[in-house]
Amino acid sequence: MLKKTIKHFKEYIKNGGVTYLEIKQIHSEKLLEGKKVVITGGTSGIGYEIAKKVVTLGGKVLITGRDIEKLNKVKKELNCEILEWDISDLELAKPKVEEIVKMFDGKVDCFINNAGIYKFLQYYNCGIEDWNNIMNTNLNGLYFATREMVVQCFEKEGKGNIIMMASMAGIRGNDGPYGISKAGVIHFTRSLAKKLLNKNIRVNALAPGITSSNINPIDDKGNIYMENLKGKRILSAKEIADIAVFLISDSSQCITGQVISCDNGETLI
Ligand SMILES: NC(=O)c1ccc[n+]([C@@H]2O[C@H](COP(=O)([O-])OP(=O)(O)OC[C@H]3O[C@@H](n4cnc5c(N)ncnc54)[C@H](OP(=O)(O)O)[C@@H]3O)[C@@H](O)[C@H]2O)c1
Repeated sequence: MLKKTIKHFKEYIKNGGVTYLEIKQIHSEKLLEGKKVVITGGTSGIGYEIAKKVVTLGGKVLITGRDIEKLNKVKKELNCEILEWDISDLELAKPKVEEIVKMFDGKVDCFINNAGIYKFLQYYNCGIEDWNNIMNTNLNGLYFATREMVVQCFEKEGKGNIIMMASMAGIRGNDGPYGISKAGVIHFTRSLAKKLLNKNIRVNALAPGITSSNINPIDDKGNIYMENLKGKRILSAKEIADIAVFLISDSSQCITGQVISCDNGETLI
């Protein structure tokens, strides 16, 4: 140990700095052992599948949602923590994150901004109420919740990991509020990653294509063929959850500011 310290000290004098690297590798069942993961909107679809995988891989999960019955059902099934929180109520960001930080003894490893809603709306038929509802849930809520998590936990801990649920709708042109909210999420992901670069807090996003969930209630155990998609099929929430697992794990510790498209090439030009 002393020998190593002297060696590093000599290197420090010679090079002006020393950087240590601990290589993390994907290691089966224990990949997320001990990780504390918060998932907004974890009662169904992609968020639920992520929660399930985190628990299976040894992590501890807290999910949020608006519906206490659904939350209680998942709590019973996954043995996870729950918190009733309507993310579109922007005033709640501070007190709800305070509760989360308390529930996890000040230590959260990963915050996943997954809660989101969809409605098929275009430029000429979008009313103000729909616009505000979608923006407050998908973008504004995510913005303020993330800031609270950064300030109340990650900056204090000197480390953090944030994952945003964007969408392919935010990559390719879309004049409805859903696509615009997700384009905002993508822009925010890159900007925040840059802002937090030297604070050991990484920020990445997933941009799924059409995925089986409550938003798209297509049974992924039956025929998932979809003619108009490049990949000719819808995606399973489990597939998206697998990529989230990689981002939660330390195997992705050198990745920040990235938006991972998981859409079977749908957004390729
Ligand atoms: N499915 C797709 O094709 C697809 C594609 C690209 C991106 N995405 C994104 O993936 C994320 C998850 O969606 P999903 O497809 O898994 O849909 P989902 O099954 O409807 O799940 C959405 C989750 O968000 C929660 N939620 C909705 N509004 C909320 C609010 N105001 N406050 C707190 N929680 C709220 C829901 O719970 P409660 O209703 O009980 O509150 C639910 O747990 C969303 O951000 C969505 O935009 C989905």
